[in-house]
Amino acid sequence: CGIVGYIGNKDAKEILLKGLEKLEYRGYDSAGIAVLNEEGVHLFKEKGRIADLRFIVDEQVKANVGIGHTRWATHGKPSKVNAHPHQSGTGRFTIVHNGVIENDEQLKAEYLSDISLKSDTDTEVVVQLVEKFVNDGYAVQEAFQKTLKILKGSYALALLDEENKDVIYVAKNKSPLLVGLGDGFNVVASDALAMLQVTKEFLELMDQEMVIVTRENVEIFDLDGRKVERKPFIAELDASDIEKGTYPHYMLKEIDEQPFVIRTIIQKYSNDNGELVIDQNILGAINQADRLYIIAAGTSYHAGMVGKNIIERLAKIPTEVHVASEFGYNMPLLSEKPLFIFISQSGETADSRAVLVQIKKMGYQALTITNVPGSTLSREADYTLLLHAGPEIAVASTKAYTAQVAVLSILAEVVARSKGLAIDVDLVHELGIVASAMEELCDTRDAFEQIASDYLSFARSSFFIGRTLDYAVCLEGALKLKEISYIQAEGFAGGELKHGPIALIEEGTPVFVLSTQENVNLPIRGNVKEVAARGANACIISMKGLEMDGDRFVLPQVHELLTPLISVVPMQFIAYYAALHRGCDVDKPRNLAKSVTVE
Ligand code: G6P
Repeated sequence: CGIVGYIGNKDAKEILLKGLEKLEYRGYDSAGIAVLNEEGVHLFKEKGRIADLRFIVDEQVKANVGIGHTRWATHGKPSKVNAHPHQSGTGRFTIVHNGVIENDEQLKAEYLSDISLKSDTDTEVVVQLVEKFVNDGYAVQEAFQKTLKILKGSYALALLDEENKDVIYVAKNKSPLLVGLGDGFNVVASDALAMLQVTKEFLELMDQEMVIVTRENVEIFDLDGRKVERKPFIAELDASDIEKGTYPHYMLKEIDEQPFVIRTIIQKYSNDNGELVIDQNILGAINQADRLYIIAAGTSYHAGMVGKNIIERLAKIPTEVHVASEFGYNMPLLSEKPLFIFISQSGETADSRAVLVQIKKMGYQALTITNVPGSTLSREADYTLLLHAGPEIAVASTKAYTAQVAVLSILAEVVARSKGLAIDVDLVHELGIVASAMEELCDTRDAFEQIASDYLSFARSSFFIGRTLDYAVCLEGALKLKEISYIQAEGFAGGELKHGPIALIEEGTPVFVLSTQENVNLPIRGNVKEVAARGANACIISMKGLEMDGDRFVLPQVHELLTPLISVVPMQFIAYYAALHRGCDVDKPRNLAKSVTVE
């Protein structure tokens, strides 16, 4: 979910709606705004997108204070009733919330048993509690503080009080939230992107802080009411970075940006002599570790699988990759000197953060590899490596994945060199070849559109098979396709197919096959024969040097360790075009959110 707030002297509605449009990547199943003027609070909520909300917002209402929300449902299905903002019983208080209140049922029973709640959300409990404490005689600020103290879970909150039109009450715990500073106005947002339209100057908030935001002032307090000083920072983002330009979709733009991103990464991680470099402290931490534990979710997890291979092959450090949401509840036996590497485009994924909090408590060190400087995972880890991929807006991740693989390969190479290991790869040169190969692939997108239409026009399900590094890319290819086209798509290790999944192969079932690794070229082709014999429609994508008759597409040759950087590009395009042909909303697939800040 994403939240925004504005207090100043302009029309709040438009600023809030524009801000929410920029936050739609965080969820888009319902949305709402509340604005406050002399007449009181005006509340507009709608199921669906911000565009749907715009439709019902009354243009006549003028107000210069307001809050807004775009939702990814957790408690309660997407509906107008469950959409935020939520109000207290009398309607005096109005709130927006991102996060999950874990003890809502308990709080309801303990404090609100005589009140009938209007929605199924955990959020309504918060606003009802504020009103209850005000009714009990507390001043609003105290009532808010008292409420925050008894909440368990995660929250970013913005609260309006109809009886004090000159303030927005704000609080944060675990969910991201920033306050933006302006001249005669101030704003609140889950992400700086939302408010770049009005300011570039922001204040970071820490967990368990409460903020009083007025037109002229921003005061931060801890939950015991002690004032906290904080210096603002300037968001190094350009509003134009987050526009689509002439592209029909962000996803297509972001696929096309990949060669540029790879070149930027080479440049950012090179010194004046053209050698790759990594912060000495990070190298020190890695070299002291006896094992690396990569923790990630979704696409970042797939990048981690590739990273593990590259790190083990170049830097010779045993490396494990774990799904964040599992690791926290089922921690493997750790080595004596582990180092944790969190991979996250957004730097906000709650599942990963939960692990970070846990391992920090255990006294271990962590490195975060993220696209977002200042994100929660970056701030809370000991070290950060940035992806430099530029804002990624499409929900389906593309350029962040390739950036993650590229940064992990640089890390592996630099560590290997620092350990004095002999490595036979000139990575700067090889990544340069990768960037050119990616360009070539972007220029041949028509071929992938044709593949999408030949193989997927009538498909209900599909398979992606590969071995070793290709297997990791197949998981990513299948994820891309299912995320945005809703075609059932599963990635399998080529050799595992015969142990079960092959039962699903029917006449015409599309099977995408990757073959970029010499040592498994023949075995994977054996697997193709097995599925073809059962009627599958195999689409083989191989790499130059390994191609055979009948292959549908031959990738330009790159270093064997770096093939995931280019073999994923056809997968991205095939998913894109399959979704497009089916009339799906490519950038905002159903049920998903780009940055999942709840566990
Ligand atoms: C969400 C997104 C995925 C993403 C995953 C991890 O589920 O829909 O595309 O891969 O989160 O996100 P992160 O920001 O941690 O890389």
